[in-house]
Amino acid sequence: MKINITDRRLTDVDPRMIGLFFEDINYGADGGLYAEMIENRSFEFFPTKVTPDVSPIDAWEAVGGAEFTAETASPINEINPGYAKIKGKKGAGCANSGYGGMYLEKGKAYDFSLYARGTAGLSVRVEGKDKSAMEFEIKPCAEWKKYEFEGICAETLYDARLFITLDGDGEADIDFVSLFPRDTFNMRKNGLRRDMAEALKNIRPGFLRFPGGCIVEGNGLLNRYRWKESVGDVEKRRCNWNRWQDGDVGVVEKNYFQSLGLGFYEYFLLCEDLSCEPLPVLNCGMGCQFQCDETADGEELDEYIRDALDLIEFANGDPDKNEWANLRREMGHKEPFGLKYLGIGNEQWGEKYFERYEKFQKVLAEKYPEIRLVTSSGPMPDGKRFDEAKAWLKGKGEDFAYLVDEHFYKSPEWMFENANRYDSYDRSGTKVFAGEYACHIGESGPKPNSLEAALAEAAVMTGFERNADVVKCAAYAPLFAREGHTQWTPDLIFVNNHEVLLTPSYHVQAMFSNNLPSYTLEIEREDDGDVFISAGFDEKSGEYILKLVNRGGKKDIVLTLPTEAEELTEITLTGNELGDINTFSEKEKVAPKSLTRKVGGREIMLTAQKYSFNVYKIR
Ligand code: AHR
Repeated sequence: MKINITDRRLTDVDPRMIGLFFEDINYGADGGLYAEMIENRSFEFFPTKVTPDVSPIDAWEAVGGAEFTAETASPINEINPGYAKIKGKKGAGCANSGYGGMYLEKGKAYDFSLYARGTAGLSVRVEGKDKSAMEFEIKPCAEWKKYEFEGICAETLYDARLFITLDGDGEADIDFVSLFPRDTFNMRKNGLRRDMAEALKNIRPGFLRFPGGCIVEGNGLLNRYRWKESVGDVEKRRCNWNRWQDGDVGVVEKNYFQSLGLGFYEYFLLCEDLSCEPLPVLNCGMGCQFQCDETADGEELDEYIRDALDLIEFANGDPDKNEWANLRREMGHKEPFGLKYLGIGNEQWGEKYFERYEKFQKVLAEKYPEIRLVTSSGPMPDGKRFDEAKAWLKGKGEDFAYLVDEHFYKSPEWMFENANRYDSYDRSGTKVFAGEYACHIGESGPKPNSLEAALAEAAVMTGFERNADVVKCAAYAPLFAREGHTQWTPDLIFVNNHEVLLTPSYHVQAMFSNNLPSYTLEIEREDDGDVFISAGFDEKSGEYILKLVNRGGKKDIVLTLPTEAEELTEITLTGNELGDINTFSEKEKVAPKSLTRKVGGREIMLTAQKYSFNVYKIR
């Protein structure tokens, strides 16, 4: 095969093109990125239409013969009114295993806190099967009081439980029981799991879209995501039920709720810590159209528009002039977060959406013309709903919609066929945000994060890069999945309580994002197919960057450059079979390997392994 990278400059590539899509799906937030170790810390779980048999003290169990009950009579606050009562003899109490057994590390610091009151004091212990890691004592107190402790863990434990027991006969009420590792990402309080956030950082994402996904819409408007409930004191963030209590792979997760401990403030902080742009998406006054036809009509829509206006103030406003900006300052962030983009509605379609979007847009454009709006084209990248959205957007400028969000969860065949999708796109139309995509192999049941899926995604991404004038940004979806608790597959990163598993798809994202050129260059090629390419030049490193996906057998390539070359770095992602996947027992089966060698002249001989994604950097 022959590839000639010419010196004909085509289009600039936004260094922030490759970003992240975060949603609390597959236990992405509670039990995932949010480092809180106690499940149902504030005794707020409740029955929902998906899981009618849930109790407020689920995830807890009585121990030592305790009478252990859910209460609401005199709570700490009315927003989260649930708490638990322990009655019994000394040693009676309750236990919490966190999310399937807690992981703690010897010598590390942990912050424990709870609210308690009662006639008896409490003994708190974090224990494994036959080892104790930490202990705290609480004296009896008649009124609610917050107790806070720091513990240094004495043992590394993989299956720990937290026990809270009476230290004498009597009773005690407990609420908001919390255990956090001190060592969170950037050492933030109420922070995020370091290992998971570091996996995000290593992608060097350009933006973070949050908080979803369908979670924005809710099953119906009742459990839609309300950002205002996700900020301020964590104890006063109303527990919501998670729309992903059931999902596409048929598993019902009885105890899947949103504590909102990871809320909009924490998302903005994460963006700051990752040096990426925040891209929040708000409900547009519609529930999930797959699940209901609920809409906010007439004046009801005002609240939703108000939420958008107030969010902009929360993120960017002057704390002396606005109550939401003041809340940001009170939470510890006086400086603005620098919000530039806002999504109105997730995956919505049709006239009802268009009407609502137009109402939002009119108000936002008048008050905050600097905010760039993102609109939806529905759940599919083609078909009636998609075409209607495109027709509606035709002729409308950037002020109306800066980006249109396109979603594609598609087969490898579709992905390979559509690697050229944007080559012939209308250059005058609304620019594209490929806001959710992933290669789906198989019709139903769990779908593998295989090498084949990763290659198909890489092929589509060469199309994004070649058409960076049209596709402004892109994000794989969904991001995280907790081992054994996935409602949606495939996912980019799998986790258990102590490990992170990077999929082949993750490596593709990281290889792209870490190796974006400043601008693309025209390519001439002679080949028999099976190869997907983009090429460009990086002004910072002075390197030509060629990305090449080979979905077929081994290929020898003669590469010609516009100038003489001295050094080549090849980063290769490959495996033996298209079906290869990474697992917790074989994490590096499909992982990138890098090699640097001296070269000379304008012509370079390359070999692309069968089934491989390659980044060649030449200077
Ligand atoms: O990424 C999973 C889901 O796919 C998102 O919540 C939704 O937007 C899409 O249907």
